[in-house]
Amino acid sequence: MAKQKQNILYLRKATIQDVPSIHHLLLRFSRQGALLPRSYSELYKHLRDFFVLVDNGEAGFKGCCALSITWENLAEIRSLIVVEGAQREGWGRRLVDTCLSEAITLGIYRVFTLTYQTDFFAYLGFEDVDKEQLPQKVWSDCLNCPKFPDWCDEVAMLMEL
Ligand SMILES: CC(C)(COP(=O)(O)OP(=O)(O)OC[C@H]1O[C@@H](n2cnc3c(N)ncnc32)[C@H](O)[C@@H]1OP(=O)(O)O)[C@@H](O)C(=O)NCCC(=O)NCCS
Repeated sequence: MAKQKQNILYLRKATIQDVPSIHHLLLRFSRQGALLPRSYSELYKHLRDFFVLVDNGEAGFKGCCALSITWENLAEIRSLIVVEGAQREGWGRRLVDTCLSEAITLGIYRVFTLTYQTDFFAYLGFEDVDKEQLPQKVWSDCLNCPKFPDWCDEVAMLMEL
């Protein structure tokens, strides 16, 4: 009898070949209003920020997450997605934990996120923070965001490591 291959999910650093899949995923979830899309040029420039969740079997792209350095002792969790079929299996938490471990390796002990998924991040230990406490984010990214300043309804949450 033929042995059935079991699909195994795992996390790894993103490679250049992952960029179209990351772009597609961000676009799809941005259409649902979950997060902001990112351009190809931005993804190529920031590829080293990304971890991806892949399946060893067919059509294997299941999620992504990025740790973006904002300033001295400040980094941001961005572009977090776990696709529908793989949600609620602990992969979102593992992606965030992987980014937090990388922050510690880099010597960065304050990690924030801008999110609508406040319950999820609160569950992981993040706490609400006033966006005014993250001025470096406002200078660097928010100024270029179409939702800035009046339509930004994402909640800023911070974890001190
Ligand atoms: C938010 C998201 C990344 C969570 O990923 P996930 O793999 O489903 O989450 P996990 O399975 O790791 O959940 C970890 C814990 O958080 C809880 N949790 C997960 N999603 C939650 C939610 N939306 N609200 C409250 N708690 C949640 C789980 O119950 C789990 O607790 P448990 O360990 O006691 O079971 C995923 O739902 C997603 O990609 N959503 C769409 C895109 C999005 O909104 N991204 C966030 C942009 S900042």
